[in-house]
Amino acid sequence: MPLASALRYTRHGSLSIRSAVRPACLASHTQLGPSIHTRLFSSSPSLSSEKKPQSVSPFAPIGVDSAMKTRSNLPSSTPRKIFSEIAIPDRVGIVSGGGRGIGLEMAMALCEAGARAIYCFDIHEKPTEEWEAVKEYVGRLEQNPYTGSPSRLEYVKVDVTDQSAVWKCAEEIGNKEGRMDVCVAAAGVLKPEKDVLQYPGDEFREVMSINVNGVLFTAQAAGQQMRRFGNKGSIILIASMSGSITNHGHAWIAYNTSKSAVLQMTRSMACELGGEGIRVNSLSPGHIYTKMTAQYLEPQPHLEEKWSSLNPLGRLGRVDEMRGVAVWLASDASTYCTGSDILVDGGHHAW
Ligand SMILES: NC(=O)c1ccc[n+]([C@@H]2O[C@H](COP(=O)([O-])OP(=O)(O)OC[C@H]3O[C@@H](n4cnc5c(N)ncnc54)[C@H](O)[C@@H]3O)[C@@H](O)[C@H]2O)c1
Repeated sequence: MPLASALRYTRHGSLSIRSAVRPACLASHTQLGPSIHTRLFSSSPSLSSEKKPQSVSPFAPIGVDSAMKTRSNLPSSTPRKIFSEIAIPDRVGIVSGGGRGIGLEMAMALCEAGARAIYCFDIHEKPTEEWEAVKEYVGRLEQNPYTGSPSRLEYVKVDVTDQSAVWKCAEEIGNKEGRMDVCVAAAGVLKPEKDVLQYPGDEFREVMSINVNGVLFTAQAAGQQMRRFGNKGSIILIASMSGSITNHGHAWIAYNTSKSAVLQMTRSMACELGGEGIRVNSLSPGHIYTKMTAQYLEPQPHLEEKWSSLNPLGRLGRVDEMRGVAVWLASDASTYCTGSDILVDGGHHAW
């Protein structure tokens, strides 16, 4: 019996070896040497030794495969590849709503992770003081090991609801940088509460225009440049847990509807763009303390306790708790993740 048919995956995904052939072809597990191991975990459905793996990590050999390959010849200093996987060396990206809040925090994290330049799209004429502070901070980071120069944080005044303007800004970035790798569509608004049966049409359209159309236009703009340069890419749409639950006691019909649309936009875009290696995922934060939520929390201090009690961690989230997940989604550590919604909500969904 050939080895390929002797090996099969269990329904839990682990490898089993048909006992009838085990003694003949595999005297011990050590005979599953590096080359066989590589083929087994190459994503090749037939497990045939001639078949090329469907994909190879840019850091290959990596993980267990790396351990197997270097087993008898370990270098004196073994590199910690996980940090290289999380890094985004020399990448170029756009973050809408990058003037403050979650967008700015993510833009900064992307620079810290090694990006060459992150362009913050925001509606205000001039950047905020906090944006200026972050730009200064990023410029003083220790030399970027990948580019030899500091990362750049750039500000672009643009309204995300203006499709042609957003596309043009991204094209200009493409012309200047010669690549596009990352997009975070974080610009969004949350309007004051209103009875669902009286919700004004104009306001509903305004929220949808920024939170849905604006997210699509930003993702399109970045995706066009990713396609133009053929360097694949990662698009991260900022949705919300409000896209899949209703915040208890809050009359936010337009906001909740818009975030639900972003979840489906993610799946749909991911399916259309997967063949080009452009990944699209959404990130759904829970209650995070920012200026957006401060408009509710400051005049109604009891809300802090209420919102905190709605998740198992018993507190609101901090903007810095969005950093790691944004960098992970942007990096090569997440290359098999697309069409997903990543909830970062302190467990709000678990109750
Ligand atoms: N804060 C939370 O608890 C929370 C929870 C879930 C999801 N979110 C989402 O995260 C994203 C960021 O939220 P935040 O809390 O940082 O809010 P924020 O109000 O602090 O930041 C939003 C940014 O978007 C910009 N913006 C708004 N309209 C724009 C437009 N038309 N064009 C360009 N820029 C525009 C604003 O100027 C601002 O800089 C939003 O999409 C929001 O819905 C926030």
